[in-house]
Amino acid sequence: MFLTSIPFLSLFLFLLLLLLLPPFHPVAEETPSLHNLLKSQGLPPGLFPQNVKSYNLDQMGRLEVHLDSPCMAKFDTRVHFDSVVSANLTYGGLKALEGLSQEELFLWLPVKGITVNDPSSGLILFDIGVAHKQLSLSLFEDPPVCKPQGLRKEMGFQVQRDVL
Ligand SMILES: *[C@@H]1O[C@H](CO)[C@@H](O)[C@H](O)[C@H]1NC(C)=O
Repeated sequence: MFLTSIPFLSLFLFLLLLLLLPPFHPVAEETPSLHNLLKSQGLPPGLFPQNVKSYNLDQMGRLEVHLDSPCMAKFDTRVHFDSVVSANLTYGGLKALEGLSQEELFLWLPVKGITVNDPSSGLILFDIGVAHKQLSLSLFEDPPVCKPQGLRKEMGFQVQRDVL
């Protein structure tokens, strides 16, 4: 009884494996498809770093991007990604952005929005609250390498807090 059940058991496991495998494929392809999604919305594919784990776009157009860990990358100056970055995705823009900050003169300023008004201009606008910063679209062609670090100590506001 036991011996004859072994082939069935392995057949069962094999079938189970076949059933389990397909759902893994979309996960593996998640990163390229986020970049395709950005491109389809007139945004450059390199806005989010290489270590994107998954993303979700709800019916309201709220995009939520999950990274392996918080990390630091560089466009023109350093940028810091939280482990979850979210924004309202519209054609040519990310609005109500949360989870991304950019270093400006030793200060870390939250990036509130990113807009590409006219791709032919070759420019992208970063809304950093106090100003709109124009950057070259060519900085965003490829997803940047993003390195996890002991970020908190390096962040400007933290240093200020420590001094106070
Ligand atoms: C972002 O989307 C939410 C709905 O998902 C909406 O309530 C909010 O007003 C939007 N914010 C901006 C700045 O577009």
